[in-house]
Amino acid sequence: MSASQELEKAATNYALEAVRLDKQGSKGMAITMYQKAIESLLKLVQLYPEYSLNKVYIQRAIAYQERIKALQGAVAPIQPQIEPSNGEEAKSLEGEKSSYEELILTEKPDVKWEEVVGLDSAKKAVKEAIVYPVQRPDLFPLGWPRGILLFGPPGCGKTLLAAAVATEIDATFISIDAASIMSKWLGEAEQNVSKLFNSARKSATEGRPSIVFIDELDSLMGRHSNEVGGEVRVRNQYLKEMDGIIDKGKKLHVYVIGATNKPWDLDWAFIRRFQKRILVPLPDHHTRFMMFKLYTSNLLLGSNVDLHELARLSEGFSGSDIRDVCQSAQLKLIGEFFETGQASNKQAKPRAITMDDFRQILEERKPSVSMDMLALYNRWFEAFKAL
Ligand SMILES: Nc1ncnc2c1ncn2[C@@H]1O[C@H](COP(=O)(O)OP(=O)(O)O)[C@@H](O)[C@H]1O
Ligand SMILES: [Mg+2]
Repeated sequence: MSASQELEKAATNYALEAVRLDKQGSKGMAITMYQKAIESLLKLVQLYPEYSLNKVYIQRAIAYQERIKALQGAVAPIQPQIEPSNGEEAKSLEGEKSSYEELILTEKPDVKWEEVVGLDSAKKAVKEAIVYPVQRPDLFPLGWPRGILLFGPPGCGKTLLAAAVATEIDATFISIDAASIMSKWLGEAEQNVSKLFNSARKSATEGRPSIVFIDELDSLMGRHSNEVGGEVRVRNQYLKEMDGIIDKGKKLHVYVIGATNKPWDLDWAFIRRFQKRILVPLPDHHTRFMMFKLYTSNLLLGSNVDLHELARLSEGFSGSDIRDVCQSAQLKLIGEFFETGQASNKQAKPRAITMDDFRQILEERKPSVSMDMLALYNRWFEAFKAL
């Protein structure tokens, strides 16, 4: 296969997995996969500027980006409309229910540790809690934590970190968005929760570690979640399953990673079972600089583009905000390039991105996390880290 076919195949696979996860309601992982698809498409366009399908690829990238935005903003899940070219038709529409087999991530997200910028202490904590015990259980005679809670403002890398762990360990990775449990598993949520943990245990018994990743934990395990249809039973089933892992499975490699933007909504019974609680904070100046560096590394930048200045201008922005700024700049340029007809000249290349492009994009957006929210995270962390 040529490099371009390879990239196109990668983009298609990521997109198919993204659409599948999206339908299943795993918002966070779906976003990660859409993102991977966009990256492959943009790389493709960059490497082969004269390729005849580029316009289609860009349109697809833009569609995925819009879907990401919708997912980030959406309260109620909407069925995705976008399918990659050879996408299978939506089969799940009549059924609506996802079987628990669908929760297992088949296409590994392929996120490397280096792609998770900053978060050094969070990465270290995750490695110590999962990666090292999996590699050398003999070095942990006193056991190791099984429940790991990632918490912090939206868009700062919780889901990304979980994806990096999935890539690192060749584990069975079961990913579920807590919000979708009740909605997708109407009436079967309780059984499915135990099925989910059973398959995790089964895999671990057979020698393959497994990670159960529960995103947006607060939506099910929250103190204030309104009791509509059996939430309490589902929650109790969860607690029971987690106890089973913590107590009995001492030698089994079954881990539960939970992620939440609203840790203060979790009730104590739940917090207690995550022995390891890791704050995933907003990026500081240096980290924002590194993010700009990462997300512009494939772009043609004008000589006046100053990444330090961009880091300064983006105070309060999350990693997701910054990635979005860079990708918007790129898509804006390529869009212009096609619309003005320059693309038909095979020798032509899109112009470089200037500081003004960035300024314009930055001015149009506000940081998505407020200072009040940040104070809340720190207060929560102080109160719960040692308990
Ligand atoms: N620390 C980071 N390093 C690199 N990219 C990041 C980081 N945090 C967020 N991003 C970008 O934003 C996207 C969304 O981040 P995500 O991990 O889903 O945030 P969270 O789960 O904390 O809401 C990621 O897929 C990535 O593109
Ligand atoms: Mg997330």
